[in-house]
Amino acid sequence: MTGVDEVRRIETDAAPTRFARGWHCLGLAKDFRNGTPHQVKAFGQELVVFAGADGKINVLDGFCRHMGGNLAQGTVKGNEIACPFHDWRWGGDGRCKSIPYARRVPLRARTGSWPTLEQDNLLFVWNDPQGNPPPVDVTIPIIEGATRDDWTDWVWYTTVIEGAHCREIVDNIVDMAHFFYVHYSFPTYFKNIFEGPVATQLQKGVGREDARPQATQSGVAKMVGNTSVASYHGPSFMIDDLTYHYEDADVESVLINCHYPISENSFVLQYGIIVQKAAHLDDPEGMARKMGDFIRIGFEQDVAIWKNKARIDNPLLCEEDGPVYQLRRWYEQFYVDVEDVTAEMTERFEFEIDTTRPNEAWRAEVEANIAARASS
Ligand code: FES
Ligand SMILES: [Fe+2]
Repeated sequence: MTGVDEVRRIETDAAPTRFARGWHCLGLAKDFRNGTPHQVKAFGQELVVFAGADGKINVLDGFCRHMGGNLAQGTVKGNEIACPFHDWRWGGDGRCKSIPYARRVPLRARTGSWPTLEQDNLLFVWNDPQGNPPPVDVTIPIIEGATRDDWTDWVWYTTVIEGAHCREIVDNIVDMAHFFYVHYSFPTYFKNIFEGPVATQLQKGVGREDARPQATQSGVAKMVGNTSVASYHGPSFMIDDLTYHYEDADVESVLINCHYPISENSFVLQYGIIVQKAAHLDDPEGMARKMGDFIRIGFEQDVAIWKNKARIDNPLLCEEDGPVYQLRRWYEQFYVDVEDVTAEMTERFEFEIDTTRPNEAWRAEVEANIAARASS
């Protein structure tokens, strides 16, 4: 059979074994400052994360170059991590600083050290398979509210996703239709812009009247919609300026959606939210927790899909779908050597979906669901 009768085949290559070049957020910096070393599985290997006496957080290869001791089971001594096996002391720069029982440190006593960045109370680590340091212009934007008194602290969530490559979550940035079917809202406006290392999703959404759980809580003003400007800065860290519109007022928040790969088939998903302490909010922290818990439900719904879906390199798209292929071209820039990044991966690309037809269909479906419930 050929032509229109031909069965569409799912094509897919194995997930890349290489890990994306870029800054990856490991979580809240304070969680690494409890005086003990932390074992982190990331980028297909074991790492040790520890804060020295000077307060700087360091990331090193997890296994000691002497006889392979696990540094995460060692002890922080001054600014160094001491191996539990024979007490060799490793500094944040990856060099062995001393061996208490030895006359001198071997010349080549150096292990892998990972550039770190602490910003907005978050800890970032730089991954580059080519081993280059982060270029000065490859940064994560400052999040104003994160360190300001008139905003809440981070409400932060961490979850491990097994059985999926992190490309699945990045696909979300262009996936308009899933908001209706997987989440509790649907977009009335949806546009993507890709340029350089930044991929943006502009969205206005309304809640589904037939499915939105918080609309049923007593004493809570009805949420009428949201406006979201969400950008990935590099392969894994998304900042979402998210405004929830309630009947009586707006709530300004910043949502972080970030991840780091554990292996080619698993990743750690983290998300966090801060909320502006506006005058009309009695309990901004409570609001942030409530919003965070609501967002968690959304991510759990995504996770259920990812765990059971097929990896697909040739998605079959309709006119109302977002630019999946262009997004993946953009994403590819982080998986090739830096000298192999092409203009196609980084040049500006804009695409707005016409939401007229989807909105007609979705409003009708919502009304039908409400009517069916009322009559049962
Ligand atoms: S294995 Fe680490 S000090 Fe010997
Ligand atoms: Fe989603």
